[in-house]
Amino acid sequence: MSTPIQSVQLGNLLLPNRYFLAPLAGVSDWPFRLLCRELGASIAHTEMISSHGLVHGGDRTLNYLERPEDERPFAIQVFGHDPDVLAAGARVAVEQYGPVDAVDINMGCPVKKVCCHGAGAAMLKDPLLVERTVRKVVDAVGPLPVTVKLRAGWDEEHKNAPEIARACEQGGAVAVGLHPRTRAQLYRGRADWDLIRRTKEAVKISVWGSGDLFTAEAARRMLRETGADAARIARGACGYPWIFRELLALERGETPPEVTLSEWRAMILRHVELAVADKQGRYRLQRPPGAPRPRSYRENGGHAHEELDADGAERAAIRELRKHLLWYTRGRRGGLAFRRTAPDLHTASDVKRALDRYFPEDGSVPAEVRDEPVGSRELSAEDV
Ligand SMILES: Cc1cc2nc3c(=O)[nH]c(=O)nc-3n(C[C@H](O)[C@H](O)[C@H](O)COP(=O)(O)O)c2cc1C
Repeated sequence: MSTPIQSVQLGNLLLPNRYFLAPLAGVSDWPFRLLCRELGASIAHTEMISSHGLVHGGDRTLNYLERPEDERPFAIQVFGHDPDVLAAGARVAVEQYGPVDAVDINMGCPVKKVCCHGAGAAMLKDPLLVERTVRKVVDAVGPLPVTVKLRAGWDEEHKNAPEIARACEQGGAVAVGLHPRTRAQLYRGRADWDLIRRTKEAVKISVWGSGDLFTAEAARRMLRETGADAARIARGACGYPWIFRELLALERGETPPEVTLSEWRAMILRHVELAVADKQGRYRLQRPPGAPRPRSYRENGGHAHEELDADGAERAAIRELRKHLLWYTRGRRGGLAFRRTAPDLHTASDVKRALDRYFPEDGSVPAEVRDEPVGSRELSAEDV
């Protein structure tokens, strides 16, 4: 008999399982979220969205909110340094571009251009600011559940995640997500899962663990060892959205099915098709009447957003998809040859041709890649 899958509460939402796609800048757009959700992820946050951008109406910002109408729950992540702007930005997203079902605040981004403005992980330095920020966002978007994404702390001397989690709880957050590396570590070294355990002990609200969850087994081990309520899968899903299917199979006590060649090829081609549809504006958002417009910076009053024609959109989509293509083809014979041709892939047909050349449908190994060494599929802590 198979074991039932454990659900998890997020405010009033009951999520059918504890496996989430983590927010990933440049990666967790609606096509990738859709693919991960189809394979079992119970929620998938947008990448971090600038609260200033939301308030001032930047086009790029609107792109991050695009998604199919049936993406529910739809969960956004916002960042910023000013509690009022964060609250106002989250409210703009909810009121003007909803339905939004949950809001996550980014207090984990280590990138200099984010932290130097006091946003992202820089907020960890000030627990009172954290509490005030969370409260403002909760007041602005209630009754929607608000959660916060944290790092371990600013640096080794200031590993204050448990204290910050308490500040989030005080401010009204219903969960915190913890990536237990300090800001100073960026993505280096091992994630300190014991800090997830200690943070879980410090608060009553839920704690979602992340960090080095490169395989389904690792994610399940993290849950067992820390008592975390959910696992946020990040790099482990890059090129391998099947990790969610594996997680669910393992939880049911079943052996996860292998990914077949035809599934693998179909996934890549579907990802390409969705990415092209995205760039061609399938879910383009319109500004509601009265909503702020982007501040123009060109003399003619124009702004950066340019409408691409169908071919231009396809090429832009493939360009942006290249990183996914490299991830998908890791650890497969033919992957090295495929990756060498990646710069020459410009259209969906180019990708199909390269797949047919190096990974033919009939499963045969082309002579030109027969001697290629096969490395590991999994990304490691050094791969961002
Ligand atoms: C390319 C990349 C982009 C990321 N973007 C975000 C982001 O926008 N918001 C966020 O909270 N975390 C972001 N993260 C952090 C991940 O959500 C996750 O916490 C981190 O990668 C640790 O998990 P992992 O070691 O299993 O990859 C990003 C990580 C990577 C590698």
